[in-house]
Amino acid sequence: MNETPVWASESFWKKTAIWVTAGAFLILVVLTFDSLSQTSAGGKRVPAYSVINKKIDYVYDAKLHKFMPVIGEQELLFGKEFSETEAEQLVMLGKKTTQAKNCMNCHTLLGNGAYYAPDLTKAWLDQGWINKEAREKMMIEFLMHPEKNARTFGSNRKMPNLGITEDEAKGVVAFLKWMSSIDTNGFPHNFKTINAEE
Ligand code: HEC
Repeated sequence: MNETPVWASESFWKKTAIWVTAGAFLILVVLTFDSLSQTSAGGKRVPAYSVINKKIDYVYDAKLHKFMPVIGEQELLFGKEFSETEAEQLVMLGKKTTQAKNCMNCHTLLGNGAYYAPDLTKAWLDQGWINKEAREKMMIEFLMHPEKNARTFGSNRKMPNLGITEDEAKGVVAFLKWMSSIDTNGFPHNFKTINAEE
């Protein structure tokens, strides 16, 4: 009699298909949870929103060969200590403002967006804000009236007035401060911060 070998039988391939699909599905579930834990606020790489109460820096780590955010002691934003809920509300107002005004049309956020204007991932730490005492006020004034407070990083490009209110500007500043604390795996590279001593 002519017996069919196992690998050539239909039932063998049916079972294999089921096991491979189930296995791949399981890996997908595990990876989804792993990604969520790495990308949610309060997770491994993305600090909780109340990080806006802290000093943030971005320093080269010679061992890891990349720049890493360093979260330091208390350094209040707008002279106020925000609870986790208050911090989340403010950061969310900023995030929604960046979406409503479509900042990504010109800027990149975490590397995503357009290349007309500077990347905003570490904009909170930009040396262009001169010093830490002036920074918050300068940022708010710039966001509300960019046409009058243009700083120009060697280009003649100007940011237009987007009709941002003072509350929205404060939200954007909080959003930018929070974003600068995210471990972005060394992006952007070679970024000198406002804290750097020359
Ligand atoms: C039409 C293009 C355009 C849009 C839209 C735009 N910007 Fe800008 N932005 C610019 C340009 C150009 C500069 C550089 C201006 C300068 O050097 O004076 C800039 C500069 C900045 C800076 C300073 C950069 C730094 O490194 O510190 C910040 C912060 C900023 N923009 C935030 C925003 C936010 C937040 C939004 C959305 C609410 C936004 N921008 C929307 C064009 C734009």
